[in-house]
Amino acid sequence: IYGGERRNSRGVNLHVDADLAPLLTDLEKWAGTRWEAGPIIAGVKRRDGDQQEVRAPHDQSRLVGQVTWAGEQHAREALDIAHQGFEAWNARPVEERAQCLERYADLMEENLEELMAICCREAGKTLQDGIDEVREAVDFCRYYAVQGRARFGQPIALPGPTGESNELYMEGRGVFLCISPWNFPLAIFTGQVVAALVAGNAVIAKPAEQTSLVAGRAVELMLEAGIPGDVLQLLTGDGATIGGALTPDPRIAGVAFTGSTQTAHVLNRTLAQREGAIVPLIAETGGQNAMIVDSSALPEQVVQDVLHSAFASAGQRCSALRVLYIQKDVAERMETLLAGAMQELAVGDPAFHSTDVGPVIDEEAQRGLQEHLSFLEKSGRYIARTPMPPTCQSGFFIPPSAYGIDSISQLSKENFGPILHVVRYAAEDLDKIIDEINGAGYGLTLGIHSRSESTAAYIERRVKVGNTYINRNQIGAVVGVQPFGGRGLSGTGPKAGGPHYLLRFATERARTINT
Ligand code: SER
Repeated sequence: IYGGERRNSRGVNLHVDADLAPLLTDLEKWAGTRWEAGPIIAGVKRRDGDQQEVRAPHDQSRLVGQVTWAGEQHAREALDIAHQGFEAWNARPVEERAQCLERYADLMEENLEELMAICCREAGKTLQDGIDEVREAVDFCRYYAVQGRARFGQPIALPGPTGESNELYMEGRGVFLCISPWNFPLAIFTGQVVAALVAGNAVIAKPAEQTSLVAGRAVELMLEAGIPGDVLQLLTGDGATIGGALTPDPRIAGVAFTGSTQTAHVLNRTLAQREGAIVPLIAETGGQNAMIVDSSALPEQVVQDVLHSAFASAGQRCSALRVLYIQKDVAERMETLLAGAMQELAVGDPAFHSTDVGPVIDEEAQRGLQEHLSFLEKSGRYIARTPMPPTCQSGFFIPPSAYGIDSISQLSKENFGPILHVVRYAAEDLDKIIDEINGAGYGLTLGIHSRSESTAAYIERRVKVGNTYINRNQIGAVVGVQPFGGRGLSGTGPKAGGPHYLLRFATERARTINT
């Protein structure tokens, strides 16, 4: 039940010329493309609605495409259609549903360069992030196809009295609303939708406003892969309008959401207050993620893992490292090494192979992070800042920055960008900092760097998180390898890319026959 054979997603090694050169040539073909997305209802792409231009976050002069935003009427239509489509889809053998996921995975691999190009231009993803994005989406499909067959293929026979047969089986719940974030606009979008689908649900997918183009292309490929048009509906547009029209409706049988803790609370309240069935909310939200480095850690490896955990994807991962705790005895040396390494990071156009850190998603994100940097300039201890080239003026860039602070409790919210906070701690204060980390209320990722197994085990046991990484970086969970998700303010579970995820999308039934 915990696995089965599946094919790995196709890798591209950017350090090998034979991989890189053809990729760059293929990506070049998409450089001038303008994509178009809009609601897809009953398999038909709609253009009746407000039009929004999409511009590249790294260069506001570059038009990427156009999106039609759905209104309440589209939401109502989508729900009517999905509600009708559910029963026949749920009645189909799971094998047929799983095969649709696998065909969609193959189609994503065939369209890798186009999907990467959209992720790069619409969401500011670097080449490596673009590859990882598509690979994760592909992995979700193949993993949930395998899990789906295992969970939904055969009923579980249960013992009972002679003359009676007893079985337990699972089926879909109804219409699932899947609300996905802009930071993994293809991977998380895909993961939520295909999990709900393979479990037998109909789906209304609501991608983040900032990343409708890649979601639109993904849904086109899902339909091409055989998902029926009455089973999968896409609503591009404003979250409050669409969520407001759908979540109070008792025909919504469950919600999968990845985004802010604040929005998860709103959804939770709305679902709790409505009449009718009590339905699941699967929420993956933020983190105030820490790494604890003791004096036995290997400095060079720490610096490499900190750079990756804090600044890859411009720090726009819920798993990203926000607060680095360094034991006092080694703090000076580690900070000096870190500051040196930060000078070498390349910030810029995400389409360049040499770029390490691309833009943040939009102006609002940039403004919020700039305000936080002003706060740190006043109240923090400056450690380092990566220089930014003048070309960054035309986009939403934030330089990777590191500041010393006294305590995690000085951070009133998650700062979703390339900003690292460093706390120096005395060995005897280990329990105190662990209490502070737990006291922040989040519980997503934790990094530990120590060559003492007992120290690492102690920290792991005491810090309450969903994913612990010891002596390595703390981002980039791999589907089926590091099931991902947190607790507390970080989410409800079950873990995405783990063996229990599909269960929450399903309802259990027992059947007893008097034979
Ligand atoms: N799954 C992602 C990661 O592990 C979430 O941010 O980095």
